[in-house]
Amino acid sequence: MNRNETSAFSPELETYLQEAEPSQLKELSEWLRIPSVSTLPEHKEDVERAAAWLAQKMTSIGLDNVQIIPTGGHPIVYADWLHAGTGAPTVLVYGHYDVQPVDPLEMWTSPPFEPAVRGDDLFARGASDDKGQLLAHVAAVEALLATSGNLPVNVKFLVEGEEEVGSGALTAFVPAETGKLAADVCVISDTHILSPEQPLIIYGLRGVWAGEVTVRGPSQDLHSGMFGGAVHNPNQAMCALLARLHDDAGRVAVPGFYDDVQSLSSQEREALAQVPYGDEQLLRESGAPAVWGEQGYTVTERIGARPTLEINGMWGGFVGEGFKTVIPAEAHAKVSCRLVPEQPSSAIGPMIERYLQQIAPDTVEVEVRTLQHAPATVVPLDVPEMQAGARAYARIFGVNPVFSREGGSIPIATIVQESLNVPILFMGFGLPDDNLHAPNEKLHLPNFYRGIRVGIALMEELVSS
Ligand code: BES
Ligand code: MN
Ligand code: MN
Repeated sequence: MNRNETSAFSPELETYLQEAEPSQLKELSEWLRIPSVSTLPEHKEDVERAAAWLAQKMTSIGLDNVQIIPTGGHPIVYADWLHAGTGAPTVLVYGHYDVQPVDPLEMWTSPPFEPAVRGDDLFARGASDDKGQLLAHVAAVEALLATSGNLPVNVKFLVEGEEEVGSGALTAFVPAETGKLAADVCVISDTHILSPEQPLIIYGLRGVWAGEVTVRGPSQDLHSGMFGGAVHNPNQAMCALLARLHDDAGRVAVPGFYDDVQSLSSQEREALAQVPYGDEQLLRESGAPAVWGEQGYTVTERIGARPTLEINGMWGGFVGEGFKTVIPAEAHAKVSCRLVPEQPSSAIGPMIERYLQQIAPDTVEVEVRTLQHAPATVVPLDVPEMQAGARAYARIFGVNPVFSREGGSIPIATIVQESLNVPILFMGFGLPDDNLHAPNEKLHLPNFYRGIRVGIALMEELVSS
Protein backbone atom coordinates (compact mmCIF):
# COMPACT_ATOMS: atom_id res chain seq x y z
CA MET A 1 0.00 0.00 0.00
CA ASN A 2 1.05 3.57 -0.62
CA ARG A 3 2.88 4.81 2.45
CA ASN A 4 3.47 8.33 1.13
CA GLU A 5 0.24 9.59 2.54
CA THR A 6 0.63 11.65 5.69
CA SER A 7 0.08 9.58 8.76
CA ALA A 8 -3.41 10.04 10.09
CA PHE A 9 -2.87 8.47 13.49
CA SER A 10 -0.57 8.34 16.49
CA PRO A 11 2.77 6.59 15.95
CA GLU A 12 1.64 3.71 18.17
CA LEU A 13 -1.52 3.13 16.18
CA GLU A 14 0.37 3.52 12.90
CA THR A 15 2.83 0.84 13.94
CA TYR A 16 0.00 -1.42 15.03
CA LEU A 17 -1.85 -0.97 11.73
CA GLN A 18 1.21 -1.68 9.63
CA GLU A 19 2.08 -4.78 11.59
CA ALA A 20 -1.51 -6.04 11.69
CA GLU A 21 -2.01 -6.25 7.91
CA PRO A 22 -0.90 -9.88 7.51
CA SER A 23 -3.17 -11.10 10.31
CA GLN A 24 -6.08 -8.98 9.02
CA LEU A 25 -5.68 -10.64 5.62
CA LYS A 26 -5.36 -14.06 7.20
CA GLU A 27 -8.53 -13.65 9.20
CA LEU A 28 -10.53 -12.35 6.27
CA SER A 29 -9.31 -15.31 4.21
CA GLU A 30 -10.38 -17.70 6.95
CA TRP A 31 -13.89 -16.22 6.97
CA LEU A 32 -14.07 -16.29 3.18
CA ARG A 33 -13.40 -20.05 3.22
CA ILE A 34 -16.85 -20.59 4.72
CA PRO A 35 -19.30 -20.84 1.80
CA SER A 36 -22.20 -18.89 3.34
CA VAL A 37 -24.45 -18.92 0.27
CA SER A 38 -27.78 -17.83 1.72
CA THR A 39 -30.02 -18.85 -1.15
CA LEU A 40 -28.96 -22.51 -1.32
CA PRO A 41 -30.50 -24.80 1.36
CA GLU A 42 -27.49 -27.14 1.22
CA HIS A 43 -25.34 -24.30 2.62
CA LYS A 44 -27.52 -23.64 5.68
CA GLU A 45 -24.89 -24.99 8.07
CA ASP A 46 -22.14 -23.02 6.34
CA VAL A 47 -24.18 -19.86 6.80
CA GLU A 48 -24.42 -20.69 10.51
CA ARG A 49 -20.67 -21.36 10.68
CA ALA A 50 -20.00 -17.95 9.11
CA ALA A 51 -22.19 -16.31 11.76
CA ALA A 52 -20.37 -18.22 14.50
CA TRP A 53 -16.97 -17.23 13.08
CA LEU A 54 -17.93 -13.55 13.20
CA ALA A 55 -19.38 -13.79 16.71
CA GLN A 56 -16.20 -15.48 17.91
CA LYS A 57 -14.08 -12.76 16.31
CA MET A 58 -16.21 -10.07 17.94
CA THR A 59 -15.88 -11.69 21.34
CA SER A 60 -12.13 -12.05 20.98
CA ILE A 61 -11.57 -8.34 20.34
CA GLY A 62 -13.54 -7.29 23.41
CA LEU A 63 -17.01 -6.49 22.14
CA ASP A 64 -19.89 -7.01 24.58
CA ASN A 65 -23.30 -8.64 24.25
CA VAL A 66 -22.18 -10.72 21.31
CA GLN A 67 -25.28 -12.60 20.17
CA ILE A 68 -26.13 -15.01 17.40
CA ILE A 69 -29.83 -14.40 17.13
CA PRO A 70 -31.78 -17.26 15.57
CA THR A 71 -34.53 -16.34 13.11
CA GLY A 72 -36.91 -18.21 10.86
CA GLY A 73 -34.16 -17.93 8.25
CA HIS A 74 -30.45 -17.31 8.81
CA PRO A 75 -29.16 -15.86 12.11
CA ILE A 76 -28.52 -12.19 12.86
CA VAL A 77 -25.23 -11.35 14.60
CA TYR A 78 -25.26 -8.49 17.09
CA ALA A 79 -22.48 -7.05 19.27
CA ASP A 80 -21.79 -3.74 20.96
CA TRP A 81 -19.32 -1.62 22.90
CA LEU A 82 -21.07 1.11 24.88
CA HIS A 83 -18.44 2.59 27.16
CA ALA A 84 -17.61 5.83 25.36
CA GLY A 85 -19.24 7.91 28.08
CA THR A 86 -22.00 10.46 28.23
CA GLY A 87 -22.44 12.63 25.19
CA ALA A 88 -20.54 10.32 22.86
CA PRO A 89 -22.49 9.37 19.74
CA THR A 90 -23.52 5.81 18.97
CA VAL A 91 -22.64 4.31 15.61
CA LEU A 92 -24.59 1.37 14.19
CA VAL A 93 -22.53 -0.61 11.69
CA TYR A 94 -24.61 -2.77 9.34
CA GLY A 95 -23.26 -5.48 7.05
CA HIS A 96 -24.02 -8.94 5.72
CA TYR A 97 -22.09 -12.18 5.98
CA ASP A 98 -24.07 -14.10 3.37
CA VAL A 99 -22.82 -14.38 -0.20
CA GLN A 100 -24.16 -15.06 -3.67
CA PRO A 101 -23.93 -18.45 -5.41
CA VAL A 102 -20.76 -19.03 -7.42
CA ASP A 103 -21.97 -20.35 -10.74
CA PRO A 104 -20.68 -20.46 -13.42
CA LEU A 105 -17.93 -22.18 -11.46
CA GLU A 106 -15.79 -22.92 -14.51
CA MET A 107 -15.28 -19.20 -15.10
CA TRP A 108 -13.35 -18.75 -11.83
CA THR A 109 -9.56 -18.57 -12.14
CA SER A 110 -9.19 -19.95 -8.60
CA PRO A 111 -11.87 -21.74 -6.56
CA PRO A 112 -14.36 -19.25 -5.04
CA PHE A 113 -13.94 -20.46 -1.47
CA GLU A 114 -10.15 -20.79 -1.58
CA PRO A 115 -9.13 -17.14 -1.22
CA ALA A 116 -6.17 -16.32 -3.48
CA VAL A 117 -4.04 -13.19 -3.63
CA ARG A 118 -3.01 -12.15 -7.13
CA GLY A 119 -1.21 -8.83 -7.34
CA ASP A 120 -3.00 -6.44 -5.01
CA ASP A 121 -6.30 -8.29 -5.14
CA LEU A 122 -7.85 -10.98 -2.97
CA PHE A 123 -10.11 -13.26 -5.01
CA ALA A 124 -12.99 -15.09 -3.31
CA ARG A 125 -16.79 -15.05 -3.22
CA GLY A 126 -17.77 -12.46 -0.60
CA ALA A 127 -14.38 -10.70 -0.59
CA SER A 128 -16.01 -7.39 -1.49
CA ASP A 129 -19.72 -8.21 -1.02
CA ASP A 130 -19.66 -7.97 1.92
CA LYS A 131 -17.34 -9.86 4.27
CA GLY A 132 -14.23 -7.80 3.49
CA GLN A 133 -16.00 -4.48 3.80
CA LEU A 134 -17.71 -5.42 7.07
CA LEU A 135 -14.57 -6.92 8.57
CA ALA A 136 -12.76 -3.62 7.93
CA HIS A 137 -14.99 -2.03 10.60
CA VAL A 138 -14.44 -4.91 13.00
CA ALA A 139 -10.68 -4.54 12.47
CA ALA A 140 -10.95 -0.78 13.03
CA VAL A 141 -12.59 -1.36 16.41
CA GLU A 142 -10.04 -4.06 17.20
CA ALA A 143 -7.15 -1.70 16.41
CA LEU A 144 -8.40 0.98 18.79
CA LEU A 145 -9.29 -1.44 21.58
CA ALA A 146 -5.94 -3.18 21.26
CA THR A 147 -3.87 0.00 21.35
CA SER A 148 -5.87 2.17 23.75
CA GLY A 149 -8.55 -0.04 25.31
CA ASN A 150 -11.03 2.59 24.30
CA LEU A 151 -13.27 3.86 21.48
CA PRO A 152 -14.25 7.48 20.94
CA VAL A 153 -17.84 6.45 20.17
CA ASN A 154 -20.29 3.74 21.19
CA VAL A 155 -20.52 1.06 18.56
CA LYS A 156 -23.23 -1.48 17.70
CA PHE A 157 -22.81 -4.11 15.00
CA LEU A 158 -25.84 -5.49 13.18
CA VAL A 159 -24.90 -8.18 10.67
CA GLU A 160 -27.35 -10.34 8.76
CA GLY A 161 -27.12 -13.55 6.75
CA GLU A 162 -30.02 -12.85 4.39
CA GLU A 163 -29.14 -9.68 2.48
CA GLU A 164 -28.77 -11.50 -0.80
CA VAL A 165 -32.17 -13.13 -0.37
CA GLY A 166 -34.23 -10.14 0.67
CA SER A 167 -33.44 -9.54 4.39
CA GLY A 168 -36.60 -11.33 5.54
CA ALA A 169 -35.70 -11.72 9.22
CA LEU A 170 -34.07 -8.32 9.60
CA THR A 171 -37.09 -6.60 8.09
CA ALA A 172 -39.07 -7.71 11.15
CA PHE A 173 -36.18 -7.42 13.65
CA VAL A 174 -35.25 -3.77 13.09
CA PRO A 175 -38.68 -2.22 13.77
CA ALA A 176 -39.18 -4.59 16.73
CA GLU A 177 -35.83 -3.76 18.36
CA THR A 178 -35.57 0.00 18.06
CA GLY A 179 -34.37 0.29 21.67
CA LYS A 180 -31.57 -2.23 21.28
CA LEU A 181 -30.49 -0.72 17.97
CA ALA A 182 -30.90 2.98 18.87
CA ALA A 183 -28.05 5.01 17.39
CA ASP A 184 -27.13 8.43 16.04
CA VAL A 185 -25.88 7.27 12.67
CA CYS A 186 -25.75 4.04 10.67
CA VAL A 187 -22.67 3.20 8.62
CA ILE A 188 -22.96 0.76 5.75
CA SER A 189 -19.90 -0.40 3.83
CA ASP A 190 -21.51 -2.53 1.13
CA THR A 191 -20.93 -0.32 -1.90
CA HIS A 192 -17.96 0.77 -3.94
CA ILE A 193 -15.80 3.82 -4.46
CA LEU A 194 -14.83 5.10 -7.91
CA SER A 195 -11.19 4.02 -8.02
CA PRO A 196 -8.49 3.12 -5.50
CA GLU A 197 -7.67 6.83 -5.29
CA GLN A 198 -11.17 8.32 -5.39
CA PRO A 199 -13.55 7.76 -2.46
CA LEU A 200 -17.28 8.05 -3.00
CA ILE A 201 -20.17 8.66 -0.63
CA ILE A 202 -23.45 7.35 -1.98
CA TYR A 203 -26.50 9.41 -1.10
CA GLY A 204 -29.10 7.34 -2.87
CA LEU A 205 -29.63 3.68 -3.71
CA ARG A 206 -32.33 2.39 -6.00
CA GLY A 207 -35.22 0.30 -4.77
CA VAL A 208 -36.08 -3.03 -6.28
CA TRP A 209 -38.98 -5.14 -7.49
CA ALA A 210 -38.30 -8.74 -8.47
CA GLY A 211 -40.72 -11.32 -9.78
CA GLU A 212 -41.50 -14.09 -12.18
CA VAL A 213 -43.50 -14.09 -15.40
CA THR A 214 -45.22 -17.30 -16.48
CA VAL A 215 -46.76 -17.81 -19.90
CA ARG A 216 -49.03 -20.86 -20.19
CA GLY A 217 -50.14 -22.52 -23.38
CA PRO A 218 -51.18 -26.15 -23.92
CA SER A 219 -51.97 -28.27 -20.87
CA GLN A 220 -48.81 -30.35 -21.42
CA ASP A 221 -45.67 -30.42 -23.58
CA LEU A 222 -46.46 -31.32 -27.20
CA HIS A 223 -44.66 -32.88 -30.18
CA SER A 224 -43.70 -29.87 -32.30
CA GLY A 225 -44.20 -31.78 -35.54
CA MET A 226 -47.72 -32.84 -34.65
CA PHE A 227 -48.87 -29.53 -33.14
CA GLY A 228 -46.35 -26.88 -34.28
CA GLY A 229 -47.95 -24.21 -36.45
CA ALA A 230 -51.37 -24.83 -34.98
CA VAL A 231 -50.69 -24.20 -31.26
CA HIS A 232 -49.04 -20.97 -30.07
CA ASN A 233 -45.64 -21.80 -28.57
CA PRO A 234 -45.38 -20.24 -25.06
CA ASN A 235 -41.64 -19.59 -25.54
CA GLN A 236 -42.40 -17.61 -28.66
CA ALA A 237 -45.24 -15.74 -26.97
CA MET A 238 -42.93 -14.99 -24.03
CA CYS A 239 -40.29 -13.53 -26.36
CA ALA A 240 -42.88 -11.29 -28.00
CA LEU A 241 -44.19 -10.12 -24.62
CA LEU A 242 -40.75 -9.48 -23.12
CA ALA A 243 -39.70 -7.60 -26.23
CA ARG A 244 -42.47 -5.12 -25.56
CA LEU A 245 -41.31 -4.27 -22.04
CA HIS A 246 -39.02 -1.59 -23.53
CA ASP A 247 -39.55 0.83 -26.39
CA ASP A 248 -36.97 1.71 -29.04
CA ALA A 249 -35.66 4.61 -26.96
CA GLY A 250 -34.70 2.24 -24.14
CA ARG A 251 -37.59 3.35 -21.93
CA VAL A 252 -39.69 0.92 -19.94
CA ALA A 253 -42.96 0.58 -21.87
CA VAL A 254 -45.16 -0.52 -18.96
CA PRO A 255 -47.98 2.05 -18.61
CA GLY A 256 -47.74 3.93 -15.32
CA PHE A 257 -44.11 2.94 -14.68
CA TYR A 258 -42.86 6.54 -14.80
CA ASP A 259 -45.93 8.14 -13.18
CA ASP A 260 -44.24 8.82 -9.84
CA VAL A 261 -40.72 9.35 -11.17
CA GLN A 262 -39.48 12.88 -10.53
CA SER A 263 -37.50 14.45 -13.33
CA LEU A 264 -33.92 15.20 -12.38
CA SER A 265 -33.34 18.80 -11.35
CA SER A 266 -30.74 20.70 -13.36
CA GLN A 267 -28.82 21.07 -10.09
CA GLU A 268 -28.67 17.33 -9.58
CA ARG A 269 -27.77 16.71 -13.21
CA GLU A 270 -24.89 19.15 -12.88
CA ALA A 271 -23.74 17.45 -9.70
CA LEU A 272 -23.91 13.97 -11.25
CA ALA A 273 -22.04 15.27 -14.31
CA GLN A 274 -19.11 16.00 -11.98
CA VAL A 275 -18.79 12.31 -11.06
CA PRO A 276 -15.74 11.07 -12.96
CA TYR A 277 -17.44 8.03 -14.47
CA GLY A 278 -18.57 7.63 -18.06
CA ASP A 279 -19.05 5.48 -21.14
CA GLU A 280 -15.41 4.57 -21.43
CA GLN A 281 -15.07 3.23 -17.87
CA LEU A 282 -18.42 1.43 -18.17
CA LEU A 283 -17.28 -0.34 -21.35
CA ARG A 284 -13.97 -1.27 -19.79
CA GLU A 285 -15.53 -2.66 -16.61
CA SER A 286 -18.40 -4.49 -18.28
CA GLY A 287 -16.71 -5.80 -21.40
CA ALA A 288 -19.92 -4.96 -23.30
CA PRO A 289 -19.51 -4.08 -27.01
CA ALA A 290 -21.46 -0.83 -26.70
CA VAL A 291 -23.32 1.34 -24.23
CA TRP A 292 -27.11 0.93 -24.11
CA GLY A 293 -29.94 2.62 -22.28
CA GLU A 294 -32.57 5.26 -21.97
CA GLN A 295 -32.00 8.05 -24.46
CA GLY A 296 -31.28 11.48 -23.06
CA TYR A 297 -29.42 10.34 -19.95
CA THR A 298 -25.75 9.80 -19.10
CA VAL A 299 -24.65 6.40 -17.85
CA THR A 300 -24.26 7.77 -14.31
CA GLU A 301 -27.88 8.96 -14.46
CA ARG A 302 -29.11 5.72 -16.04
CA ILE A 303 -27.46 3.63 -13.33
CA GLY A 304 -28.12 5.75 -10.27
CA ALA A 305 -31.04 8.01 -10.90
CA ARG A 306 -33.37 6.42 -13.48
CA PRO A 307 -35.57 3.35 -13.03
CA THR A 308 -34.95 0.26 -15.15
CA LEU A 309 -36.38 -3.14 -15.99
CA GLU A 310 -34.18 -6.19 -16.57
CA ILE A 311 -34.85 -9.73 -17.69
CA ASN A 312 -32.64 -11.77 -15.38
CA GLY A 313 -33.40 -15.26 -16.60
CA MET A 314 -35.55 -17.19 -19.08
CA TRP A 315 -36.38 -20.84 -19.37
CA GLY A 316 -38.92 -23.16 -20.91
CA GLY A 317 -38.93 -26.23 -23.10
CA PHE A 318 -35.79 -28.24 -23.72
CA VAL A 319 -32.43 -26.66 -22.82
CA GLY A 320 -30.19 -29.74 -22.46
CA GLU A 321 -27.55 -30.89 -24.89
CA GLY A 322 -28.71 -31.96 -28.30
CA PHE A 323 -32.29 -31.20 -29.28
CA LYS A 324 -35.83 -32.18 -28.57
CA THR A 325 -38.64 -31.15 -30.88
CA VAL A 326 -41.13 -29.95 -28.32
CA ILE A 327 -43.65 -27.19 -27.71
CA PRO A 328 -43.47 -26.52 -23.97
CA ALA A 329 -46.59 -26.11 -21.91
CA GLU A 330 -45.04 -23.13 -20.08
CA ALA A 331 -42.40 -20.45 -20.49
CA HIS A 332 -40.82 -18.59 -17.58
CA ALA A 333 -38.85 -15.41 -17.04
CA LYS A 334 -37.31 -13.75 -14.00
CA VAL A 335 -37.77 -10.01 -14.26
CA SER A 336 -36.65 -7.25 -11.92
CA CYS A 337 -36.86 -3.48 -11.79
CA ARG A 338 -34.65 -0.90 -10.12
CA LEU A 339 -36.71 1.89 -8.69
CA VAL A 340 -36.08 5.52 -7.85
CA PRO A 341 -37.52 7.49 -4.91
CA GLU A 342 -41.31 8.04 -4.95
CA GLN A 343 -41.94 4.91 -7.04
CA PRO A 344 -44.14 2.63 -4.90
CA SER A 345 -42.37 -0.73 -5.03
CA SER A 346 -45.58 -2.66 -4.24
CA ALA A 347 -47.35 -1.31 -7.34
CA ILE A 348 -44.82 -2.55 -9.88
CA GLY A 349 -45.83 -6.23 -10.03
CA PRO A 350 -49.54 -5.56 -10.65
CA MET A 351 -48.59 -2.89 -13.18
CA ILE A 352 -46.46 -5.31 -15.21
CA GLU A 353 -49.10 -8.03 -14.97
CA ARG A 354 -51.88 -5.71 -16.16
CA TYR A 355 -49.81 -4.61 -19.16
CA LEU A 356 -48.69 -8.10 -20.18
CA GLN A 357 -52.21 -9.49 -19.88
CA GLN A 358 -53.53 -6.61 -21.94
CA ILE A 359 -51.04 -7.12 -24.80
CA ALA A 360 -51.00 -10.94 -24.67
CA PRO A 361 -52.85 -12.78 -27.43
CA ASP A 362 -55.69 -15.04 -26.28
CA THR A 363 -53.66 -18.05 -27.36
CA VAL A 364 -51.76 -17.98 -24.04
CA GLU A 365 -52.28 -16.99 -20.40
CA VAL A 366 -49.90 -14.69 -18.49
CA GLU A 367 -49.25 -14.44 -14.79
CA VAL A 368 -46.81 -12.23 -12.82
CA ARG A 369 -45.76 -13.22 -9.33
CA THR A 370 -43.94 -10.82 -6.99
CA LEU A 371 -40.99 -12.28 -5.08
CA GLN A 372 -39.46 -9.19 -3.47
CA HIS A 373 -39.87 -5.45 -3.40
CA ALA A 374 -38.35 -2.54 -1.51
CA PRO A 375 -38.37 1.21 -2.08
CA ALA A 376 -35.33 3.31 -2.94
CA THR A 377 -33.16 4.88 -0.24
CA VAL A 378 -32.30 8.57 -0.14
CA VAL A 379 -30.06 9.89 2.59
CA PRO A 380 -29.80 13.50 3.69
CA LEU A 381 -26.64 15.26 2.51
CA ASP A 382 -26.88 18.18 4.89
CA VAL A 383 -26.31 16.40 8.21
CA PRO A 384 -23.10 16.77 10.24
CA GLU A 385 -22.48 13.00 10.11
CA MET A 386 -22.13 13.24 6.33
CA GLN A 387 -19.42 15.86 6.78
CA ALA A 388 -17.71 13.62 9.32
CA GLY A 389 -17.77 10.79 6.79
CA ALA A 390 -16.29 13.04 4.12
CA ARG A 391 -13.51 14.16 6.48
CA ALA A 392 -12.71 10.54 7.39
CA TYR A 393 -12.32 9.58 3.72
CA ALA A 394 -10.26 12.72 3.02
CA ARG A 395 -7.89 12.02 5.91
CA ILE A 396 -7.04 8.56 4.64
CA PHE A 397 -7.23 8.99 0.85
CA GLY A 398 -5.83 12.52 0.73
CA VAL A 399 -8.71 13.66 -1.51
CA ASN A 400 -12.30 14.64 -0.81
CA PRO A 401 -14.97 12.08 -1.69
CA VAL A 402 -17.37 12.70 -4.54
CA PHE A 403 -21.10 12.22 -3.95
CA SER A 404 -23.27 10.13 -6.22
CA ARG A 405 -26.30 7.87 -6.46
CA GLU A 406 -25.86 4.18 -7.12
CA GLY A 407 -27.82 1.56 -8.95
CA GLY A 408 -27.72 -1.37 -6.52
CA SER A 409 -30.14 -1.90 -3.67
CA ILE A 410 -29.83 -2.57 0.05
CA PRO A 411 -33.47 -3.07 0.98
CA ILE A 412 -32.91 -2.92 4.75
CA ALA A 413 -31.33 0.54 4.52
CA THR A 414 -34.63 2.37 4.18
CA ILE A 415 -36.10 0.35 7.05
CA VAL A 416 -33.14 1.17 9.29
CA GLN A 417 -33.28 4.84 8.37
CA GLU A 418 -37.00 5.12 9.04
CA SER A 419 -37.41 2.81 12.05
CA LEU A 420 -34.38 4.15 13.93
CA ASN A 421 -34.58 7.68 12.57
CA VAL A 422 -30.86 7.76 11.75
CA PRO A 423 -29.01 9.07 8.71
CA ILE A 424 -27.13 6.41 6.77
CA LEU A 425 -23.56 6.79 5.62
CA PHE A 426 -22.90 4.58 2.62
CA MET A 427 -19.13 4.50 2.74
CA GLY A 428 -17.85 1.59 0.70
CA PHE A 429 -14.39 0.17 0.12
CA GLY A 430 -15.14 -1.94 -2.96
CA LEU A 431 -14.40 -1.02 -6.57
CA PRO A 432 -16.73 -1.00 -9.59
CA ASP A 433 -14.82 -3.92 -11.13
CA ASP A 434 -14.94 -6.18 -8.06
CA ASN A 435 -17.12 -8.67 -9.98
CA LEU A 436 -19.92 -8.71 -7.41
CA HIS A 437 -22.30 -11.65 -7.90
CA ALA A 438 -20.04 -12.80 -10.77
CA PRO A 439 -17.08 -15.11 -11.25
CA ASN A 440 -13.74 -13.90 -9.84
CA GLU A 441 -15.14 -11.60 -7.19
CA LYS A 442 -12.25 -9.73 -5.62
CA LEU A 443 -11.30 -7.14 -3.04
CA HIS A 444 -8.53 -4.67 -3.77
CA LEU A 445 -6.38 -5.14 -0.68
CA PRO A 446 -5.12 -1.55 -0.44
CA ASN A 447 -8.81 -0.60 -0.19
CA PHE A 448 -9.28 -3.13 2.62
CA TYR A 449 -6.42 -1.68 4.66
CA ARG A 450 -7.51 1.87 3.89
CA GLY A 451 -11.06 0.87 4.81
CA ILE A 452 -9.83 -0.12 8.27
CA ARG A 453 -8.20 3.28 8.61
CA VAL A 454 -11.32 5.06 7.37
CA GLY A 455 -13.30 3.13 9.99
CA ILE A 456 -11.00 4.47 12.72
CA ALA A 457 -10.97 8.01 11.30
CA LEU A 458 -14.77 7.94 11.06
CA MET A 459 -15.16 7.09 14.75
CA GLU A 460 -12.86 9.99 15.60
CA GLU A 461 -14.57 12.43 13.23
CA LEU A 462 -18.05 11.54 14.45
CA VAL A 463 -17.11 12.75 17.93
CA SER A 464 -16.47 16.23 16.63
CA SER A 465 -19.42 16.35 14.27
N1 BES B 1 -23.91 -4.77 -1.94
C1 BES B 1 -25.00 -4.99 -2.82
C2 BES B 1 -25.71 -3.72 -3.21
C3 BES B 1 -24.92 -2.72 -4.02
C4 BES B 1 -24.02 -3.13 -4.98
C5 BES B 1 -25.09 -1.38 -3.81
C6 BES B 1 -23.30 -2.21 -5.72
C7 BES B 1 -24.40 -0.46 -4.55
C8 BES B 1 -23.48 -0.88 -5.50
C9 BES B 1 -25.99 -5.95 -2.17
O1 BES B 1 -25.34 -7.04 -1.55
C10 BES B 1 -26.88 -6.53 -3.22
O2 BES B 1 -26.42 -7.24 -4.05
N2 BES B 1 -28.18 -6.23 -3.12
C11 BES B 1 -29.14 -6.86 -3.99
C12 BES B 1 -30.49 -6.74 -3.32
C13 BES B 1 -31.51 -7.68 -3.89
C14 BES B 1 -31.15 -9.12 -3.60
C15 BES B 1 -32.87 -7.37 -3.31
C16 BES B 1 -29.15 -6.16 -5.33
O3 BES B 1 -28.86 -4.95 -5.42
O4 BES B 1 -29.39 -6.85 -6.33
MN1 MN C 1 -23.79 -6.49 -0.39
MN1 MN D 1 -24.80 -8.51 -3.17
